[in-house]
Amino acid sequence: MLKPKIAPSMLSSDFANLASEADRMVRCGADWLHMDIMDGHFVPNLTIGSPVIESLRRHTDAYLDCHLMVTNPLDYVEPLGKAGASGFTFHVEVSKDNWRELVQKIKSKGMRPGVSLKPGTCIEEVYPLLEDENPVELVLVMTVEPGFGGQKFMPEMMDKVRALRKKYPSLDIEVDGGLGPSTIDTAASAGANCIVAGSSVFGAPDPAQVIALLRKSVEQELQSD
Ligand code: DX5
Ligand code: ZN
Repeated sequence: MLKPKIAPSMLSSDFANLASEADRMVRCGADWLHMDIMDGHFVPNLTIGSPVIESLRRHTDAYLDCHLMVTNPLDYVEPLGKAGASGFTFHVEVSKDNWRELVQKIKSKGMRPGVSLKPGTCIEEVYPLLEDENPVELVLVMTVEPGFGGQKFMPEMMDKVRALRKKYPSLDIEVDGGLGPSTIDTAASAGANCIVAGSSVFGAPDPAQVIALLRKSVEQELQSD
């Protein structure tokens, strides 16, 4: 059964206090913690890597939903597995030749494989990864250009979410970028059930209230199906 998963993006947290920020989000009702891993090459920004995930893991049992915005995701599987990552979502644009190997290795390290696509990438690109005998278990549809928090939600990406939901009724479909109280209904009604939200959660006076609102919108949509 599909469940809402609300995943605050720790990119908008105070990195100098990551453990307490993670704890705060869990207490505010987060299901997952979204960890944006960037290499300064696939995207023009540099964030965190396996050593930080390893440190954070010592302070939390939360599901660490890692989004790999890196050119060579294969190099990160072993270290992130050891570090205690929960989900490993790589980008389809850089995995055309090795996604089968990637998915197999991610699973063998005890992580959950997901695939993400940038706004300019067609949804058809991810279908082979869902139809394989060893499929990915989540699709992350980027609703902004990857690299930075605080950008504007791209509603035209909802065609991808709708197409995916129609084809895969029980798939975890995640949206990332510009999600908040003013955009959640658009994403939820298109069929997204996993919601990444950075600036709208961390920038709110009451993050628990925003997380509850995001969850309610997804729940209402799931119940109406
Ligand atoms: C952007 C990242 C997002 C980002 C979302 O490349 O993948 O996870 O933190 O931030 P908001 O919710 O502020 O758009
Ligand atoms: Zn992300």
